[in-house]
Amino acid sequence: MSDVIELLEHDHREVEEMFAEFEAATTAADKRAIADKLIIELVRHSEAEEQAVYPVISKKVDGGKDLVEHEIDEHTQAEKLMKQMDGMDAEDPQLGVLMGQLKSAIQEHIREEEGEAFPKLRQATSKDELEKLGTVVQGLKKIVPTHPHPMAPDHPPFNALLAPGAGLVDRVRDLVTGRGKD
Ligand SMILES: [Fe+2]
Repeated sequence: MSDVIELLEHDHREVEEMFAEFEAATTAADKRAIADKLIIELVRHSEAEEQAVYPVISKKVDGGKDLVEHEIDEHTQAEKLMKQMDGMDAEDPQLGVLMGQLKSAIQEHIREEEGEAFPKLRQATSKDELEKLGTVVQGLKKIVPTHPHPMAPDHPPFNALLAPGAGLVDRVRDLVTGRGKD
């Protein structure tokens, strides 16, 4: 079992790496592929936080309601940027501009969570509860893979996510929330 805070902080490190990868990418195809991977990871991460973790912060942490409201607001801002990036031609210089804005927004998100919300959550919650939440978040990770499974190159959720065209943000969210399944 994994502590939910450790899991989410691990996500943060992965996302930071993806921004660095994007900046180092030299071809349009690489940039587009990294942007897609980053969008999938960020939407999945935000949904996991909103579904599994923020309700607990809101309930148990002093001032938690305000913290959570602020974070959800920032998720909405980031999502707007990602929707603009979604399906954008990688040759378009605007993609790099939007990626820069997204990076600043996410760096701020990481600072706030790791600097305030997570330490407060850890104080207010038992190790046992953090591990239970970790299991929930890991379950969501399995629904939305950010990499094709090495043993199953045609892993259906991953391929469906990367179907051509816009709408990646919504496709990932629908997958995590189970919307559009019935
Ligand atoms: Fe986060």
